[in-house]
Amino acid sequence: MGAPMAGVSGGKLAAATCQAGALGFIAAGHLMELESLEQELTAFRQEAPTSPLCIGFIGYSTFGTDEGWERYERVLRKHKPAVVQFFAPAIHTQQSTGRSNVDVAHHHAALVLAQVGSVQDGLAAANASVNGLIAQGSEAGGHGLRREMGSAGSTLARDLIRKVAQDIPVLLAGGIVDGYGVASALALGCDGVVLGTRLWASEEALGHESLKRALVDAESTDSVQRTTVFDQIQNTSSSIPWPEPFDSLGALRNETTAKWDGRMNELSEELSTGSQSTLCTIYREAQQEGNGQIAAVLCGEGVGAIDSIKSAYDIVKKINEESVGIVRRMPKMLLDNCGENRT
Ligand SMILES: Cc1cc2nc3c(=O)[nH]c(=O)nc-3n(C[C@H](O)[C@H](O)[C@H](O)COP(=O)(O)O)c2cc1C
Repeated sequence: MGAPMAGVSGGKLAAATCQAGALGFIAAGHLMELESLEQELTAFRQEAPTSPLCIGFIGYSTFGTDEGWERYERVLRKHKPAVVQFFAPAIHTQQSTGRSNVDVAHHHAALVLAQVGSVQDGLAAANASVNGLIAQGSEAGGHGLRREMGSAGSTLARDLIRKVAQDIPVLLAGGIVDGYGVASALALGCDGVVLGTRLWASEEALGHESLKRALVDAESTDSVQRTTVFDQIQNTSSSIPWPEPFDSLGALRNETTAKWDGRMNELSEELSTGSQSTLCTIYREAQQEGNGQIAAVLCGEGVGAIDSIKSAYDIVKKINEESVGIVRRMPKMLLDNCGENRT
């Protein structure tokens, strides 16, 4: 599936992903207003009228207020998505009604995927009767558990498969950009994968072209860092600050991380003094201009293998074909390594 990526996954990207045979998600983000989401849903319907509609919601903001719950239910009622995805954290219960976000989705006939970064959150999601889990490893691009709380995707996925999700599918998210990533996820016992960063570097993705180019220019996994620096800056002036332990980003190293990484107390001091407005203003301007040397360029640890911006359709098709080729070669590789094919 294509990840719901706020500011990146609109109707066109979701449609192209679906046309290539995967589930393409539209990101509802914080769902603070419905207008921009409506536009993306319309674009999706125009491009892929018969494909299943899939929408991803960010939990802490969407389900933090009764208005958020209302907007969520309005989207379900009007657009009838086939699948919804929840994240950060995935499971919420509305105090005034006692219903969970999963119950509400099921009431509107949508299947539910929960993206989790720990076994504990996976258990909570399974207990809430989700239809599938996404194991988000700390290799993943974008928000996720702080480095010290998260795990590698491969170990998390194995634990979820063994301990939590015997009866429901588990997908792996984090660092997957080619057929090798897909084949390794299948070998782990996963039922599929999530592509985030690879589809961010696509023609249909929303967002600044300069930031997409930065993804192509990144040389290797060494270019990526999981850090709280960006959230610390952004949270200072945001009306919906990311809460702990999700206030951490997989992103490209840049001037901002070079300056502040390992100096969080000083950064906090700087933000609480008069310089706060300057730092936040510079940061916001950089975001608007697509200046990836100052603003965060969200991406996962697989970014070094991305060498071009292509259509999402071609990306998904090629990754699928590549993974099939690798899986077909596996038996011979295994036999060769075991010596059985040696004469
Ligand atoms: C630019 C960007 C924005 C993201 N926004 C969201 C989001 O709005 N909701 C969400 O559930 N996950 C979001 N994610 C995380 C993805 O769901 C997924 O876990 C991640 O992209 C997988 O790792 P990869 O980028 O290495 O493929 C985002 C990731 C990126 C790169």
